[in-house]
Amino acid sequence: MRFADTSIRLGPFEIAPATLLAPMAAISLPPFRAACLAQRCGLATTEMVAAKHLTVRRAWRKKKPFERAAGERVLHVQIFGNSAEVLAEGARAAADFGADALDVNLGCPARKVVGSGSGAALGRDTATAVAAVAAVVAAVPVPVTAKIRAGWDDDSINAVETARALADAGAAWITLHPRTRTQMFGGRADWSLLARVVAAVPIPVIGNGDIRGHADAERMVRQTGCAGVMVGRATMGRPWLFRALAEGTDEEPPVPERLAIFRDYVAAYTAWAGPSRAIKELRKHLLWLVRGVRGAAAFRVAAQKASTPEDVATLLERARDALVEGED
Ligand SMILES: Cc1cc2nc3c(=O)[nH]c(=O)nc-3n(C[C@H](O)[C@H](O)[C@H](O)COP(=O)(O)O)c2cc1C
Repeated sequence: MRFADTSIRLGPFEIAPATLLAPMAAISLPPFRAACLAQRCGLATTEMVAAKHLTVRRAWRKKKPFERAAGERVLHVQIFGNSAEVLAEGARAAADFGADALDVNLGCPARKVVGSGSGAALGRDTATAVAAVAAVVAAVPVPVTAKIRAGWDDDSINAVETARALADAGAAWITLHPRTRTQMFGGRADWSLLARVVAAVPIPVIGNGDIRGHADAERMVRQTGCAGVMVGRATMGRPWLFRALAEGTDEEPPVPERLAIFRDYVAAYTAWAGPSRAIKELRKHLLWLVRGVRGAAAFRVAAQKASTPEDVATLLERARDALVEGED
């Protein structure tokens, strides 16, 4: 299947293709969202933003993770917080700022987030999750979605029950990452649970977890009937993955094209973050870029040494001849 033929409704918006970039802290920032959208990603959710932080305007950084990216038609801001009140207030601030849609994080497993009662801690109990999402729905005029996990642990899988209740509470769609909080990112995502959630709710369900490329995404849709797919880790250093999904292929673009896309990404990141922040944050992206590419060892060393965005541009230019498709 070609995802180019798929779409999904989000309130007044048509999201096409029905492919989403996952919210990823310190990754799903405006420049990366722009790069993915330029590669035919349907919707790029922001990294999670603390609802509390959103309400304190003077604490906003000059470069906000939740500002609209270039070419971002629908700004979908993910918020997290530890109570219905905090989330509702943060949602109002986000909508005032210009968010076109909001996503409520009910699944983040990080100790710091869970410890403060947010993320997976909110999703642990269906009633608490529903109260939070209902409060957000009531607070803003824009569509509200929610992202959940399978449950807290193997003995408390509550995704079906929670998804049903969230649909009743007015969620526009649910994204399910079918791992438990205890699993964190280990083991495998349970796509059979995804199929059960799809069958149980009247709203669209976005499937997430362990998609590495087009073949996986297609298999997920076939096996579960999910309305759209969300990809996280596999997009790191590979924004073109969305084009592959749209076009229905598992082929990567040739190395020179990948380098050209990255050159533009580095320029956009530098313009957004400023050179000194950009160089620090871009190094990891350069390492991801050459995952599974032959001749990458020297590139990796040079990437660690690069101290200005110009160094990176030169590195990418020189790499055209040094990197070859295929595994080392
Ligand atoms: C580095 C990193 C940061 C993440 N940050 C968030 C986040 O801010 N909000 C969220 O809902 N999920 C977050 N996630 C989870 C992803 O959105 C996604 O659910 C998970 O990685 C499974 O999808 P994948 O197998 O395609 O990576 C993060 C994951 C990673 C690897």
